[in-house]
Amino acid sequence: MHADYGGVVPELASRDHIRKLLPLVEQARRQAGNPVLTGIAYTRGPGLVGALLVGASLAAGLGMSLELPVLGVHHMEGHLLSPLLETPAPAFPYIALLVSGGHTLLVRVDGVGQYTVLGQSLDDAVGEAFDKSAKMLGLGYPGGPALAALATEGDPKAHDFPRPMLKRAGLDFSFSGLKTAVMLAIKAAPHTQAAHADIAASFQQAVVDTLVGKCARALRECDVARLVVAGGVGANASLRAALARRAARDGFESYFPRHEFCTDNAAMIALVGYRRRHEMRPGIVSADAVPRWSLETLRPPVGDVSSTSPARLAG
Ligand SMILES: Nc1ncnc2c1ncn2[C@@H]1O[C@H](COP(=O)(O)OP(=O)(O)O)[C@@H](O)[C@H]1O
Ligand SMILES: [Mg+2]
Repeated sequence: MHADYGGVVPELASRDHIRKLLPLVEQARRQAGNPVLTGIAYTRGPGLVGALLVGASLAAGLGMSLELPVLGVHHMEGHLLSPLLETPAPAFPYIALLVSGGHTLLVRVDGVGQYTVLGQSLDDAVGEAFDKSAKMLGLGYPGGPALAALATEGDPKAHDFPRPMLKRAGLDFSFSGLKTAVMLAIKAAPHTQAAHADIAASFQQAVVDTLVGKCARALRECDVARLVVAGGVGANASLRAALARRAARDGFESYFPRHEFCTDNAAMIALVGYRRRHEMRPGIVSADAVPRWSLETLRPPVGDVSSTSPARLAG
């Protein structure tokens, strides 16, 4: 639906949510064997307000009709805790590299609700850089996976693209310069599959080197030996391989949630809802959604749930 426009069209997205959300919830319930529900967690923000409002309205309505308590969850907290859906789950503290279409963040996670943002992108998110570069290469949308596939045919050393901010101190990122370098390379190169594959591979290598370098620096500076990767770009095979190699070399543990827990998913929202179940409130009439919501305003959950194994919950 969005491919024709080369990006998400907010109004189309929220209208499609209206059509699909309730049937999807019913299907999920059936597939799970109609379990007894004790609460409803939904994504309260941050994000596109139209789409958020559809989810918030449905959650509020379901809460009222089923007489269940409701909790609005922070989308990024879901991503940060998604590795806890896997076995073995990482222990706290860990450093999370959160790389998605909308965000590039390095976060120190000391526990549920204890997040310190160490660095972030000053311009484009990594996923956005993948998508925009893919678009320039004439690949479809979302372009990240398509670009990664094309990159497997190319030479990652063909172009010496900038490794943004790697030489500078600090843990912030910037990807707009790399995007420009890709644009210039495409203009200068022949329009062949082989030439485009070289550009894709070199672009991906520059991104991977940058992300791996910053992760290693964050782990060193925080004196933490656990790294988790979350968000859609975390599905990138080249990034996973490079981080695993670096982990073996530097002696830290690395955790990668499986693909369906990396991209946007409801399991991670349910997990946060469970960890924060004592904060759930009776369903209200008004839908509560917030397009802008800082991760660092979150606090540890009310009630002691630290003894519960989230991995067992996921199983
Ligand atoms: N294998 C991959 N390699 C690189 N990027 C990828 C890959 N798979 C998905 N992506 C990118 O991940 C992003 C989507 O991640 P997601 O967490 O669902 O996004 P958001 O929550 O920001 O909308 C898109 O930009 C997409 O291109
Ligand atoms: Mg996401």
